[in-house]
Amino acid sequence: MPVEFLGIAATNEGSEVTARSGPSFDKDYTLRLARAHEEYGWDRILFAYGSGSPDPSPAAAYIAARTEKIQILVAHRPNVSYPTFAAKTFATLDRISDGRLAVHFITGGNDHEQQREGDFLTKDERYARTREAIQIIKKAWTSHEPFDHEGAHYRFRDFVSDTFPVQLPHPPVSFGGSSPAAYAAGGAEADIYCLWGEPLAQTAEQIESVRAAAKAAGRTDTPRIQVAFRPIIAPTEELAWEKAHATLARIKARKAGSPLSRRHPVTNPQNAGSQRLLAAAAQGERHDRALWTPTAAETGGAGNSTALVGTPETVAQALLDYYDLGVDILSARGYDLLDDAIDFGRHVIPIVREEVAKRDAERAAA
Ligand SMILES: Cc1cc2nc3c(=O)[nH]c(=O)nc-3n(C[C@H](O)[C@H](O)[C@H](O)COP(=O)(O)O)c2cc1C
Repeated sequence: MPVEFLGIAATNEGSEVTARSGPSFDKDYTLRLARAHEEYGWDRILFAYGSGSPDPSPAAAYIAARTEKIQILVAHRPNVSYPTFAAKTFATLDRISDGRLAVHFITGGNDHEQQREGDFLTKDERYARTREAIQIIKKAWTSHEPFDHEGAHYRFRDFVSDTFPVQLPHPPVSFGGSSPAAYAAGGAEADIYCLWGEPLAQTAEQIESVRAAAKAAGRTDTPRIQVAFRPIIAPTEELAWEKAHATLARIKARKAGSPLSRRHPVTNPQNAGSQRLLAAAAQGERHDRALWTPTAAETGGAGNSTALVGTPETVAQALLDYYDLGVDILSARGYDLLDDAIDFGRHVIPIVREEVAKRDAERAAA
């Protein structure tokens, strides 16, 4: 199975090491970053969601209209729009992009951040709502007959869309979360299940939980698995570790200046995924071949925050360890977003693709 690479569709140059210099939606930077991913061999880019961030759907439409082949993954929180409306937004985006869309459903791991946009449900209730929203959106994408819906969170009558996606039966549904309620909802509904970069043993545990949840939901297939890292590469191991420590120092300096993010608290995260990253960091700084956790510890396990450190060869081999575990989508984002997207695309992606092709050929021959 060919491996896929997911990068980031940031809308400005800000990151944990760099405060942004202009508006949150910097049109030129957004396009430059997307085109760099397209040019350097990435498959798809993620437009993330935060309560105060630019709306990812029009940002994605802008990029889709100015690129040819890079695929787009748009994050969506079901609390911000009614599912029939969201279904049309995404169907339209799939048309604009000629079938390059996937939707990443976000339940929200932090009550305070959810409440900023009027969402006062508990996390477990939010997962039940996400599941209901996904079911409605899939039906709106595929049903040419009017239908009613009577659920715990949504109720409507006689809806039929006149706007259908290009992709059949529908654009891929991506999903993230690491709590039992997440596995149940995503295991049942997701085409792609997303994890953050934990050590191999813990990643294997999570893959097992997702597969068990899919089976419990009566599925005969299983979601594809995606894992996300922050690669720190350099021409030698020594230079890569120097760069890693310099990156950590830059995160500390940036934190001292202004808050890293309004979306993620830097201490005591409520979401299981961040708690798991902090637990891995508490166990040790280095795990397996190249996983490094201080970047996660320093940022409260805020999302994709564990690093893979080393030469391109080392980082590629570390990614292949995850591929061998059953991961088929590798998500990566550097700290200097544009330069790192180019370096990773130039030096790491070709090695991983070549090794995966070899493994697949050997498997086919066997
Ligand atoms: C790869 C990935 C990307 C995510 N992107 C976002 C995002 O853009 N915005 C957001 O609010 N949450 C995002 N999340 C958070 C999750 O969707 C989820 O709401 C949260 O982790 C739930 O917590 P749990 O681990 O306790 O189940 C992302 C999660 C993953 C795994």
